[in-house]
Amino acid sequence: MFGVYDELWIPAYAGMTHDVFGAILNRGSIDKSLGTVTKPKAGIIMASERKLRLGAFFSGTGSNMASWRHPNAVADGAINLEYYKTLTKKAESAKLDFVFFGDGLYISEKSHPIFLNRFEPLTLLATLAAHTTHIGLAATLSTTYSDPFTVARQFASIDHISGGRAGWNIVTSPLEGSALNYSKPEHPQHDLRYRMADEYLEVAKGLWDSWEDDAFVRNKETGQFIDERKMHRLNHQGEFYSVQGPLNISRSKQGRPVLIQAGSSEAGKEFAAKHADAVFTGQASLEDAAQFYQEIKGRAAKHGRKPDEILLLPGCAPVVGRTQTEAEEKHREIANLVVMDDALNYLGRYFNDLDFTQYDLDAPFPDLGDFGRNGWESTTDSIKELVKKENLTLREMALRATTPKHVFIGTATYVADTMQAWFEAGAADGFMLNSAVLPDGFNNFIDQVLPILKDRGLFRTEYESDTLHGNLGLPIPANRYAVEKAAEKTG
Ligand SMILES: Cc1cc2nc3c(=O)[nH]c(=O)nc-3n(C[C@H](O)[C@H](O)[C@H](O)COP(=O)(O)O)c2cc1C
Repeated sequence: MFGVYDELWIPAYAGMTHDVFGAILNRGSIDKSLGTVTKPKAGIIMASERKLRLGAFFSGTGSNMASWRHPNAVADGAINLEYYKTLTKKAESAKLDFVFFGDGLYISEKSHPIFLNRFEPLTLLATLAAHTTHIGLAATLSTTYSDPFTVARQFASIDHISGGRAGWNIVTSPLEGSALNYSKPEHPQHDLRYRMADEYLEVAKGLWDSWEDDAFVRNKETGQFIDERKMHRLNHQGEFYSVQGPLNISRSKQGRPVLIQAGSSEAGKEFAAKHADAVFTGQASLEDAAQFYQEIKGRAAKHGRKPDEILLLPGCAPVVGRTQTEAEEKHREIANLVVMDDALNYLGRYFNDLDFTQYDLDAPFPDLGDFGRNGWESTTDSIKELVKKENLTLREMALRATTPKHVFIGTATYVADTMQAWFEAGAADGFMLNSAVLPDGFNNFIDQVLPILKDRGLFRTEYESDTLHGNLGLPIPANRYAVEKAAEKTG
């Protein structure tokens, strides 16, 4: 499945005022290949201790390229603090696990409007931390274009400021143009980026353990500020990084931020299995999601990790209607809004800004060989597989990319049933909620679908903890040196 990052991510169109929006933008054509989905039995009820984990992806006006023109959209949403504060507070009132903000390091005239003018995410998280108390605050930061000491320090600061609610979506930066903004001669190759990221994470985790939890004595009477035996230098010398430490900030209430990852290439999966606490995924069917779920949990076990120490969160972008037909109609209408030039730009971003207008729209999708693999490896691989399998033209593929088929379209009960079916079939531990058009897509989910999940006992009605690790049911990572000392004592 190719539905990944916010651009190609499965969209949600719920609540769109179709006639108005359609009248403004109705210049494209419909993807006629919207598939039907196998529906789970309606109204499945279950009582279980295991709860769904839900994160909300807030991407300005939404993942659809035309979303900023929607009548209810806040057109400057990606750079509007009040707007993000309102959405985040609503997510917290609904008791969601976390909100998430993506990021990228290169733009051009062809980029999605929400990428052209947006906040640097850590600055945004710091502000949102001051306006919330329980919800997790997660954002993207690239390992390829940053330094582990700085980033470990920044995330530790956000984690302190928020009282243990930070999450880091670790990306290696798929966009080749990023090198042009960071004084680099070239964008490192895909697998090399993951090798760098692996060492980077070893360093960051080591730095977060610089201080044992009781290292800061601060005894005014004795004059002892720290217990030096509880301060640790990392002294890391590796292939890419050389970092002495210690970090100049203590461990947070949750030890370190929750680590999130989204790659689904071979190297990406291995990285996730080793380092991630949560994995964003983009499978389109329950069967594919279940297979991916098993694979990642299996790989994690090889790294000595328990299955419930790594959470799989497929994307879910509900389109809710009063009837199934109305929801499907909403989805078709949004597909119809897509302007072909935008659709080609959208697709082009995955292929290093390739100009697809040079190809015949109604001829079979062009043979691009290995082109594109250095950026979005797993995404471009999936696109190439899909066009071959379904014999798609360029036009069909571009429309499919901007408005992917997905299974979360229907009445609120149907969407809840589908989520429940994925959860119970071992295809998901929860979901990453996305919206093609914000705030409507998000509001419709919270107001119409979430109450059903809560009634069924599938989602919390109160936070269990005030840390993100705690709410996600993840163990707080112990300080490695404290563990070693404890082991020495007992053994
Ligand atoms: C929900 C989700 C959010 C993502 N957010 C970002 C992001 O903010 N910035 C980014 O550069 N990539 C983002 N990605 C892309 C992934 O980091 C990764 O590059 C992509 O899935 C390709 O994976 P691969 O490199 O393993 O092939 C996201 C992917 C998903 C599924």
